[in-house]
Amino acid sequence: MADFVQVWGEVQRALESEATDDDKLQLVTEILYREVSHYDWVGYYLASPAEGRLYLGPYTGEPTEHTDIEYGEGVCGQAAEIEDTFLVGDVTSEPNYLSCSPDVESEIVVPIFSEGELVGELDIDSYQVDPFTYKDKDFLERVADLTAELI
Ligand code: SME
Repeated sequence: MADFVQVWGEVQRALESEATDDDKLQLVTEILYREVSHYDWVGYYLASPAEGRLYLGPYTGEPTEHTDIEYGEGVCGQAAEIEDTFLVGDVTSEPNYLSCSPDVESEIVVPIFSEGELVGELDIDSYQVDPFTYKDKDFLERVADLTAELI
């Protein structure tokens, strides 16, 4: 079980560093990927509300072909439309899903807001079925809030 208090501390320290905003986002993805065993892909998507599209930002994990996603498309695009956290415990039960890897079994996408506007998303894939609990959701929503100013 991940120690979210300890991981939160690491994330906060990364944000206090002298790194650029982009490098800080990259560092956050690396920390989450390294410290939480059921996080097998961690990345940011950056929102373009004018275009209704999400563009891949800093991430850690296998490269993905999904670098540009329309609102409404896949789990990421649905989260952008509903403007709420979208948790899929078993991706085989989600018809509107964009597969990045056959190893992925579940996904959680947390929208990120700045002054009420969607600016991006924090996206986590897991190779386990149903690994995400309310603790992941709470933790990731706090990380999303904390990193909103970097987007
Ligand atoms: N599975 C996502 C696409 C992005 S990858 O997980 C990195 C989706 O259905 O939107």
